[in-house]
Amino acid sequence: MAEKVTILIDGTVHEVECGTTVAAAVLNAGRSLFRRSVTGAGRGPLCGMGICYECRVEIDGVLHSRSCLVPCRSGMEVRTDG
Ligand code: FES
Repeated sequence: MAEKVTILIDGTVHEVECGTTVAAAVLNAGRSLFRRSVTGAGRGPLCGMGICYECRVEIDGVLHSRSCLVPCRSGMEVRTDG
């Protein structure tokens, strides 16, 4: 069995497998809206490898973190614009 870590996504507790990216954890939590563009359009992961910047969320207070590049750590706090 894979080790699990607990994170907060928009204030809700989620348990995910160790090594899961934040983007995957957010999607697995049933959320597809990660942020909003300057015109208010919903955005979410596109490339999954750090190029498009569409998956940006706030991670532990750091704005505009590319969630597809960051593995979940225990106690991490993630905020989306969803
Ligand atoms: S999904 Fe493209 S940078 Fe994260």
